[in-house]
Amino acid sequence: MELSDFDLKMTRRALDLAVLGVGLVSPNPLVGCVIVSESGEISGEGTYIYNKVIHAEAVALSQAGARARGGTAYVSLEPHSHQGKTQPCTEALINAGIKRVVCPIEDPNPLVSGKGFVQLRANGIEVVVGILAVEAEKQNEKFICWHRKKRPFVHLKLAMSLDGRISLNNSVSTALSNEHALKRVHDLRHEHDAILIGGNTAFVDNPSLTDRSGKPRRRPLVRVVLDNRLRIPVDSPLVTTANEVPTLIFTNSGDSEKIAHLGEKKVEVVEIENGGRNLESVLAELAVRQIQSVLVEGGTQVAGAFCDAKLVDKITFMVAPLVIGGRDAPLAIGGVGASTMDEAFRLRDLELTKYGDDIEVTAYATGRI
Ligand SMILES: NC(=O)c1ccc[n+]([C@@H]2O[C@H](COP(=O)([O-])OP(=O)(O)OC[C@H]3O[C@@H](n4cnc5c(N)ncnc54)[C@H](OP(=O)(O)O)[C@@H]3O)[C@@H](O)[C@H]2O)c1
Repeated sequence: MELSDFDLKMTRRALDLAVLGVGLVSPNPLVGCVIVSESGEISGEGTYIYNKVIHAEAVALSQAGARARGGTAYVSLEPHSHQGKTQPCTEALINAGIKRVVCPIEDPNPLVSGKGFVQLRANGIEVVVGILAVEAEKQNEKFICWHRKKRPFVHLKLAMSLDGRISLNNSVSTALSNEHALKRVHDLRHEHDAILIGGNTAFVDNPSLTDRSGKPRRRPLVRVVLDNRLRIPVDSPLVTTANEVPTLIFTNSGDSEKIAHLGEKKVEVVEIENGGRNLESVLAELAVRQIQSVLVEGGTQVAGAFCDAKLVDKITFMVAPLVIGGRDAPLAIGGVGASTMDEAFRLRDLELTKYGDDIEVTAYATGRI
């Protein structure tokens, strides 16, 4: 069956509806749905929002009512066929008399992947899969990574000068980005479940690491600090606001007095072998907490450690029109780095966006999400 421009347009609409769930669905996926009646009119639209329990397909079908019979459902992700908190969406589509389902991608969850399409086809529904698949995968990259790699999606974000410096020097907190770029950074924070920094950044910058996008979120942004020597100042905003915003510190310091003190302030100190140096264990611990995505905001050493360990899925560099120079200003990525071109961290799907005079460079690690 040929796909028409209308199919393309309606699938795009379903993807746009799914985006309305950003910040409101994790650890579940973003899903949007459009129901088009047999006569070719949009008769229902839905977005999945976790707290509302009802799925995108059910919202759109209830709007459409009898007009769904004989119509087409455009869904941004494979409808689920299992009984969860809600009726299976496949059943709802079948019962509503939908004749055709157009959907970009399968659900990546191995427990359900492909089963929804099988059930729809078994009930005589035409199922078209693959339209705008790249866009749909990108939209749900965090959910997909979580299921495929069994760990949170890691997005490394750094602000830097044109010569790749992320600060003036190690002892001064330096704001490099302009106000437009900073707004974008808060939107990025809004998309993620957790934000992570190294111990030196916590010590030098004294950041608050909150989502100030002004957009609603279902769960608070979890703040994570890799601080083996537990140098975080007790009057740091990360500590003084830990009773309001979840804050985790990974360490192996063994400083029981400071750990107890931080505990009193509601900071959760996670003691593991090698502390924050063991990035696989850090990510595994975050996964246990249903954290699907982590925005790593530096500094040099932590960024380098994630790159060396090949645990970065996506990179955003916010480049300001500045040259800092000098020998001591920290560069963006430390760690061991590459000694051959084959070892260099190669990226794909590069995108450039301007925010005033700052330039955002975003790209993906090569390979599958
Ligand atoms: N422009 C930006 O976007 C940006 C963002 C963040 C930071 N910065 C700047 O970066 C500078 C700090 O960078 P930095 O390289 O000195 O420090 P960092 O990367 O923030 O922290 C490094 C420290 O974290 C601890 N750590 C725990 N687990 C680690 C792991 N897996 N890999 C590496 N370190 C780990 C280590 O301390 P232990 O000795 O306790 O193990 C290490 O000394 C500051 O000047 C800050 O202003 C800039």
